[in-house]
Amino acid sequence: MLTVEEAVTKLRNGDLVVIPTETVYGLAASIYQYYAIKKIFHLKKRPFYNPLIVHIGEINDLNKIAKNIPNKAWKLVNYFFPGPLTLILEKRNILNLISAGKNVVGIRMPDHSLTLKVIQKLGSPIVAPSANLFNYLSPTSVIDVQRAIPFLKNSILDGGLCKLGLESTILGFTQDKKVKLLRHGSISIELIESILNEKLIVPPSNYKRYDSCGIEIKHYALKCKLVICKSFHKGISYYANKKIGILSFNKMIKSKFIDKQIVLSQDKNLFEASRIFFSSLYLLDSLNLDVILVKKFPNIGIGITLNDRLIRASIKNL
Ligand code: TXA
Ligand code: MG
Repeated sequence: MLTVEEAVTKLRNGDLVVIPTETVYGLAASIYQYYAIKKIFHLKKRPFYNPLIVHIGEINDLNKIAKNIPNKAWKLVNYFFPGPLTLILEKRNILNLISAGKNVVGIRMPDHSLTLKVIQKLGSPIVAPSANLFNYLSPTSVIDVQRAIPFLKNSILDGGLCKLGLESTILGFTQDKKVKLLRHGSISIELIESILNEKLIVPPSNYKRYDSCGIEIKHYALKCKLVICKSFHKGISYYANKKIGILSFNKMIKSKFIDKQIVLSQDKNLFEASRIFFSSLYLLDSLNLDVILVKKFPNIGIGITLNDRLIRASIKNL
């Protein structure tokens, strides 16, 4: 495992470093290291049309990499930075490789002391997509990073378990200065609307792809098939002759046909559930099960984000 100083040296030398954030682990390179950034795409098997989020170490960095920042963006920055919010802003001095050739760039300031130290000591922002192969689950622990991309095992800055466990919420700004949700994330729509005092433009839940974001309808694809059930008992009957895993929100399901079961939050707490959501899926996906059965979460607050991830990871509904 790396120290902060070693992580900074590696980034300065054009190497990659896995960094902890409050949302998920990221695979980082300095925004000025073209070949290191290319290597991120290569290692993740990520297509070049999918832009990267720039992570800043202080709010002053914003004006160096973005321009014409709308007032509403400043309001959000003042409330949420550092934190799990990414804003898509007009770019300034940003490589086309980072922004996939667009004139806008995604920017966030992560809320993790180690990573903030790394960015501040490096003296420049970093790009950091989630540290997983393209379209797989985002890792929220060192073990899951190693499971996702074993090659990276000596390049990790260990920051413990990510405290939120779901990726940042992404917002963009329309020509007529409305604020548009581009990815459901760790901050609920309700909280953002209450800070802005206006409604967000939210895509319908069956959209194929989030606007211009590189988020596919089938994202978070597991090795094992994941099936969303109306009731667990229905799912268990359907797959009774198979090796079954269950990921449930708060209830322990009693059935001798279950091979492995994880309950996310006995207290029915969506934040507690989010924190271990991806790590639970990593674990279930490593057990050679035939099917993982899940049920939708209550569709409020970050339950909406959890449901979004389930829909993108699932192969069918029962
Ligand atoms: O919480 C997070 O945001 C994590 C941690 C590591 O910070 N990062 C993350 O990055 O989730 P990534 O690359 O896995 O997902 C970023 C998403 C991608 O789907 C990308 O298409 C979209 O953000 N995105 C990035 N820049 C964009 C831009 N300029 N315009 C539209 N979408 C953008
Ligand atoms: Mg990702």
